[in-house]
Amino acid sequence: MNTETHRKHRHAPMSIEKAMAGIKYKIAIISGKGGVGKTSVVVNLAAAFRKKAMEVGIFDADIHGPSVPKMVGIKTEMRDILHGSHGLDPVLTEHGFKVMSVALIWPTDQTPILWRGQYKARVLRQFLSSIKWYELDFLLVDLPPGTGDEPITIMKSIPGLDGMVVVTTPQEISTIVCSKAINAAKELNAPIIGLIENMNAYRCPDCGRVEYLFGKAKGENLAKAFKIPFLGGIPLDSQYSEAADEGTPIVFKYPDSLTSQAMLKIADEIIKILPPREKVVVKERPWEEGRDHP
Ligand SMILES: Nc1ncnc2c1ncn2[C@@H]1O[C@H](COP(=O)(O)OP(=O)(O)OP(=O)(O)O)[C@@H](O)[C@H]1O
Ligand SMILES: [Mg+2]
Repeated sequence: MNTETHRKHRHAPMSIEKAMAGIKYKIAIISGKGGVGKTSVVVNLAAAFRKKAMEVGIFDADIHGPSVPKMVGIKTEMRDILHGSHGLDPVLTEHGFKVMSVALIWPTDQTPILWRGQYKARVLRQFLSSIKWYELDFLLVDLPPGTGDEPITIMKSIPGLDGMVVVTTPQEISTIVCSKAINAAKELNAPIIGLIENMNAYRCPDCGRVEYLFGKAKGENLAKAFKIPFLGGIPLDSQYSEAADEGTPIVFKYPDSLTSQAMLKIADEIIKILPPREKVVVKERPWEEGRDHP
């Protein structure tokens, strides 16, 4: 490469649109409050899409508790990714997802400087424009819980978001928290793909009987009331914590479980709802200009 081209390549500002141009569907996962199983849904949906031979990326945008790296078994220090001058390569997990986390740039309680909201949004946009996702069928975004400024800023920074998936639990449905999430999503002008009801049932490991501990079809009724699709329910499953601790999504660890079947069904529902697009073709990149060599 001649010097002129090299200089252009190094200094041309990358746009988020350009960085995400190879992604077929961008989906944000939101919830009304924390702890409803949003991250578990993200990693297992990613696993379900992967099982369907899709190229999948996860953008962990939950600044309050970036737990995706642990749940997918990433042992690399996220900091190690920041060395490249050509942009940021997401970490490729053992199961073949690409993962990048906003934890790399977001200020914490230990950050010695004060970040103003508008500055945060600028840094986030710069970060998003440097991530090298290349070709993906699905990018799943794990948002911070709730409907405050942060999840809204992140969603607004993702150009051409194809839709949002709302995760809730039967306990939460009886409150207005979940409705707030649905209303906030509606205001963002990105379509709501649908609602997932997590922890909706329990199957007795001895007799196999399925019990709806908090009432049957609560999620389905809520979805009906808001005129949004119901994507499915996910049972309470004691294997979750074991799978999460090990860093293997349940869909890979226990492929025949009720949970895995539920996740695969939800993945199918999402594919049915999204407008059909051709599967991406991943380009071979044995060497790329600007890339730092080990
Ligand atoms: N269906 C389920 N059955 C049993 N345990 C579950 C289920 N879904 C999630 N959990 C467990 O509940 C806890 C919270 O789940 P998770 O971290 O996915 O929620 P979250 O909404 O992302 O939470 P946060 O707001 O902290 O990001 C985890 O310990 C997870 O293993
Ligand atoms: Mg989470």
